[in-house]
Amino acid sequence: MTDMDNKRYGHFNDAQREYVITDPQTPWPWINYLGNEDFFSLISNTAGGYSFYKDAKFRRITRYRYNDVPMDNNGRYFYIKDGDTVWNPGWKPCRTPLDSYECRHGMNYTRITGSKLGVVASVLFFVPLHTAAEVQMLSLENRSQETKHLKIFSFEEWCLWNAATDMENFQRNFSTGEVEIEQQTSTIYHKTEYRERRNHYAFYHVNTPIQGFDTDRESFVGLYNEYSAPQVVVEGKPRNSVAHGWSPVASHYIEVELKPGEKRDLIFLLGYIENEQDKKWESKKVINKEKAHALMDRFATREQVDQAFDKLREYWDRLLDIFVVDSGNDKLDRMVNIWNQYQCMVTFCMSRSASFFESGIGRGMGFRDSNQDLVGFVHQIPERARQRILDIAATQFPDGGCYHQYQPLTKRGNNDIGGGFNDDPCWLIFGTVAYIKETGDFSILDEPVTFDNQPGSEVSLLEHLKVSFNHVINNLGPHRLPLIGRADWNDCLNLNCFSMDPDESFQTTENKSEGSKAESLMIAGLFVVTGRDYVSLCRHLGHNDEADRAQKAVDDMVQAVEKSGWDGKWYLRAYDFFGHKIGSDENEEGKIFIESQGWCTMAAIGKEKGYPERALDSVKERMECEHGIVLNNPAFTTYHVEMGEISSYPEGYKENAGIFCHNNPWVIIGETVAGRGDDAWRHYTKILPSYVEEKYQTLHKVEPYVNCQMVAGKDAACPGEGKNSWLTGTAAWMWYTVSEFILGIQPDYEGLRIDPCLPSTAKEYTVKRRFRGALYHIHVVNPDGHQKGVKRISLDGKAVSGNLVPWSEGEHKVEVVM
Ligand code: GLC
Ligand code: GLC
Repeated sequence: MTDMDNKRYGHFNDAQREYVITDPQTPWPWINYLGNEDFFSLISNTAGGYSFYKDAKFRRITRYRYNDVPMDNNGRYFYIKDGDTVWNPGWKPCRTPLDSYECRHGMNYTRITGSKLGVVASVLFFVPLHTAAEVQMLSLENRSQETKHLKIFSFEEWCLWNAATDMENFQRNFSTGEVEIEQQTSTIYHKTEYRERRNHYAFYHVNTPIQGFDTDRESFVGLYNEYSAPQVVVEGKPRNSVAHGWSPVASHYIEVELKPGEKRDLIFLLGYIENEQDKKWESKKVINKEKAHALMDRFATREQVDQAFDKLREYWDRLLDIFVVDSGNDKLDRMVNIWNQYQCMVTFCMSRSASFFESGIGRGMGFRDSNQDLVGFVHQIPERARQRILDIAATQFPDGGCYHQYQPLTKRGNNDIGGGFNDDPCWLIFGTVAYIKETGDFSILDEPVTFDNQPGSEVSLLEHLKVSFNHVINNLGPHRLPLIGRADWNDCLNLNCFSMDPDESFQTTENKSEGSKAESLMIAGLFVVTGRDYVSLCRHLGHNDEADRAQKAVDDMVQAVEKSGWDGKWYLRAYDFFGHKIGSDENEEGKIFIESQGWCTMAAIGKEKGYPERALDSVKERMECEHGIVLNNPAFTTYHVEMGEISSYPEGYKENAGIFCHNNPWVIIGETVAGRGDDAWRHYTKILPSYVEEKYQTLHKVEPYVNCQMVAGKDAACPGEGKNSWLTGTAAWMWYTVSEFILGIQPDYEGLRIDPCLPSTAKEYTVKRRFRGALYHIHVVNPDGHQKGVKRISLDGKAVSGNLVPWSEGEHKVEVVM
């Protein structure tokens, strides 16, 4: 190890719920998310990133150029010109060496502070609650002995709304750009395409008179300059340019005089406005600015901004007060109490759309992704999870199949990708059951929900669950195992694709499923787990005939797995199109896969025969490495046309033997089901960000405060290197795993079930859990270092039989002895 390997770029501050970055040159931009409802921004530790309203593709507000050189070039930038020195508080884009630098990423806010030549500039970025705008409060302080005459230039670049065509259709784009400038309010409006079919515009405002502005990029930056040295800034003089076509931007110019010790706040506001069709215009060609003015008035003073910021903090205080663990282990507590829950909120909002790895122009919301995401979020804001379930279900087909994705703006199924991913239906049961167990709200099952968004096709949500369940049993293969369809959870195991054309996408190309025998053991396990949930839900509702029918189908599936899904030391992964085994010792590559080990051990299939423990041992022997559990082993070294995309990746990356963090929790839960707390804990902490943060900031590369989708596996050139941070089902699964299976607090229909599975070293912890309006203080002691098994529980001093603590109103004390 060299010093570089050990270099640290920041640290956690748990009291503030912040990650504090102390060096701007992180190994990759470390980003945060602002906004949690409709208006969203991505912001890196050097203020790079962009904003959008609801949909990162169709309502992109500011422009971002991906995979650029140097990395991360577009953002909201403040240039400070102090004499001949030009610098930015966040170091970029000028990259002038700073006297100090700090970026604090907090819960939906970021504060970046830099100082140079005695001037401290601190910018607080956040999207106030229920507001379609990003506030940027720039606080300047003169700590030098002399009076400073600073020239401040703000800078943002507009996106021409559709982020996809914005990047390609230049023959049109370079002629459509339009702006309006309102000197008296110091506001620049972006109104491209407002003249025709759009009823929305954006604005960039500052709460102080300006001494100039620019709105044309070429005039501001200069055609051959870079953002690090825009000609206007270098010259120290705005050009008051008005954009007509080309690339509209927004820059305010403000002269600030600061005496020694003097401070000044400038409040910038990047806002989004929609107008009713008949109220679009104030007069010919002049946009109606009424709503924009009203918005500006809400953030005109420091007091107003402080108040809005306090509200945001209180909001997070409330959300993070629903589940609070005190285990005495900071690394566990900060993940459970802060960052894991925060990441769950972000993935719930974003699905897989917008990050520094997801361009925001590709995918909509995934059917399976969103159902899993909401399991990490449902305790935070159940009403939003409820709506999400109904939206997702409405994109299902009458036979139980589902659109694989839908657009958040329209909530309609996405035709480009279509359906046929045969795991999808099971996830609707998974998400809905989690919602009901959290809330006790069975009424959601009676909600009328369409198929494929067709009015008139409504049936109850319960009926949707039934067709979901049936979809699996109506699509069984020769071994009575579920047919895989286009793919199961592993989008890259394409058993019916047979693609030899590099110009077609594995994901969207027509599959050759006719006559296919391709069956999935992963869906089999998933079906057993979610099928049992469906059974108990039906029993709960008193639908005993349906419960009996479903139970029989689940039992049949268990039998089918025991008969045709066991390879001797682990569960098979699949049968391919021709009926050949995948994930078997017989195979040369890809002998063992993680997904079926996870789901079949969660379902405890073949327990009497010792299958789960044997399979979990095989995982340890063959797939576990220093950084987590790889997806398959041995990695594929050549392209296998009968398996598709999985074998397209070089060894150790992504679905080809990468550590695909999302599925590690499945094994971890499997370990807890088997009662092996030490193993569960070891697997868990290998991918727990706080543990990784302590060891490998440089190697890991991406943000150390959240999980990433993929860490390079043991067969890769650089094992341990992380990629695709933030938007991953890992967030929800890590939460589900630690809260319900390690700490063992499981919401159930009647109350909270307490069933921890701990490392033998864990002796005691408490959890404060708000649950359906009641408050539980749960104190678990484990004096003998057991890994699993509750000896006794008392509720408010009275013994409880079994491990279910029945729900009742009020505040309760629960004592648990293991
Ligand atoms: C991505 C997809 C998800 C899929 C997984 C494995 O995370 O969003 O739907 O299950 O990759 O391929
Ligand atoms: C690619 C990725 C996979 C992802 C899929 C979704 O196949 O490898 O992880 O789920 O794209 O589009």
